Amino acid sequence: MRLATTTVLTLCASSAFAQAPAPDGAAVFQKTCATCHAQPGPENRAPTRESLALFAPESILTSLTTGNMYRQAQDLSDVEKRAVAEFVAGRKFGTPTPLPTVGRCSSTAPPMTDPGKGANWNGWGGTVTNTRFVPADKGGLTAPLVPRLKLKWAFGFPGVTAARSQPAVVGGRLFVASESGDVFSLDAKTGCTYWAFHAQSGIRTAVSVGQYKTAGGGSSYAIYFTDGAATAYAVDANSGKQVWARKADDHPLARATGSPTYFNGRVYVPMAGLNEEAQGGRPTYECCTFRGSVTALDATTGAVVWKTYTIAEEPKKRGVTKEGVQAWGPSGGGIWSAPTIDARRRALYISTGNGYSDPQQPTTDAVMAMDLDTGKVKWVAQPAPNDVWMMGCKPENPDNPRCPAKQGPDHDFSASPMLARRTNGRDIVIIQSKSGMAYGFDPDKNGELIWQYRTSAGSGLGGQWGGAVDDKLAYFGVNGTLSQTPGGMRAVKIDTGEEVWSKAPADKLCGAARGCNGAQGGALTAIPGIVFSGSGDGGLRAYASDDGTIVWQFDTNREFQTVNGVKASGATMDGPGAAVVDGMLYINSGYGGIVGRPGNVLLAFGVE
Ligand code: HEC
Repeated sequence: MRLATTTVLTLCASSAFAQAPAPDGAAVFQKTCATCHAQPGPENRAPTRESLALFAPESILTSLTTGNMYRQAQDLSDVEKRAVAEFVAGRKFGTPTPLPTVGRCSSTAPPMTDPGKGANWNGWGGTVTNTRFVPADKGGLTAPLVPRLKLKWAFGFPGVTAARSQPAVVGGRLFVASESGDVFSLDAKTGCTYWAFHAQSGIRTAVSVGQYKTAGGGSSYAIYFTDGAATAYAVDANSGKQVWARKADDHPLARATGSPTYFNGRVYVPMAGLNEEAQGGRPTYECCTFRGSVTALDATTGAVVWKTYTIAEEPKKRGVTKEGVQAWGPSGGGIWSAPTIDARRRALYISTGNGYSDPQQPTTDAVMAMDLDTGKVKWVAQPAPNDVWMMGCKPENPDNPRCPAKQGPDHDFSASPMLARRTNGRDIVIIQSKSGMAYGFDPDKNGELIWQYRTSAGSGLGGQWGGAVDDKLAYFGVNGTLSQTPGGMRAVKIDTGEEVWSKAPADKLCGAARGCNGAQGGALTAIPGIVFSGSGDGGLRAYASDDGTIVWQFDTNREFQTVNGVKASGATMDGPGAAVVDGMLYINSGYGGIVGRPGNVLLAFGVE
């Protein structure tokens, strides 16, 4: 999937190069970056050397690996990228971003309360079923109140050009991470900062909150998230102190994008291989060996309970290229999104992306059900096979085993499966693909297809990060980044997939801005009577559930005054969607990288 994202912190690379002298970041900058960044003139949009120093090393590395600068940096090794990132930022990886003195909470937070009780949005999908629907008693927001939503406060993420981690709100606290590697605990009503934690690498996952046992035999609450180097963390929700950190995958190019899901004392960590997918096309790279996986960890200790790969077979040698480079396969099937829990069937559902190298597998671009207790695969639904795709490879590669013989359409699933209920009381698993198709699968019949519906022509570029489901309808945003007119919204009946309404994209709010488009691949959120969509044009819109009329909209394309004093603005809205809790709505704006315009703000709305 062609997406710009977080960080590659290749532990293997650093140890493999341990004997060699560390590369000189200043020399790398002089050789590779200075032509554009040393003294950019008016004809050059490149940030100045001084403004580059405001970025966190973690977010510079992201830009160099899968973001805007990946072409400029493609001949650099991982250690050179890390060296130049530290040189440009003027600080080492793992150093916390200096916490602004303004906007700190004046008192310590009241102790955390049970995340299972009271109003909250926990993890990626609000609850473990990932339906992204908030009932009135939890959300405190219904259709008549929506036109009265006003901006209450804004929070700026320092040192980044994208706000990709969706906020979670539990026990009156808002937890949100950032590609700088920082995780913040804020007061949900005012936005003041209780604490910040710094991970070893940039983070784009949302946070899940759950209970763990303390050393003294008591219990406390922790937040769980995964960083761009595949390390999962538990951090105490009250104190901000690390409880444990655990590498969830050994592949040097593994990188988490999907949020971990907490359920009953375990944390289910999905893994993507974005960094291999971004580099596998380089002629010298031995493409490819990454396989997607879910790892179930003990919430108290971080110990591995089980780990299941999405591709059963280990990658094997697949011949050598004309240049003598070894090829490997099968590989791919990364998991971009949060696992869904089906407590009744003791099942876990995940969705997978395309294969990276041949041979094609029955479990890529698929929805998979696993046993919650053992990780054993229960069923697989693969509606569209034959999608092996690698960035940088040609459409056909008959003589190059390092690339797919025939490039697939790059039609990953990037959304979480939604566990919903039909009107006959039977469950259904609903999900939309980047292909533009949406599906309903039957969890009682090993994932048998109940219905399918075409939302759009689909697009390889950009994600479809999640629809929403209420008690009658399923809602889908249309990404369509590669089409003439990206964007649009659809609503279908849960029971049949029959279309109820369909809306063309609204008039764009970003005008002539570079990279302005109306793609609606960002995750949706539904409340009674309304579905919210943040669009690539920077508009946050509320659609009436019954007919798709836009009843409220807010333009995020501007600079905001922030509670923490960090300079921040909104732009492209993509990836994460809104969290609605206790009469407030929280959403990020800004998605700098290959598919979006830069921004770095978290916005909090309330009813006036
Ligand atoms: C050919 C010119 C050019 C070269 C060479 C170049 N850059 Fe850039 N850089 C740009 C431009 C232009 C932007 C503005 C981003 C955009 O809109 O694409 C940018 C943006 C950035 C950003 C802001 C974050 C982002 O992703 O937009 C960082 C960080 C950065 N460059 C670092 C580097 C580093 C480090 C190097 C050397 C390894 C480098 N650049 C080489 C032109 C260049």
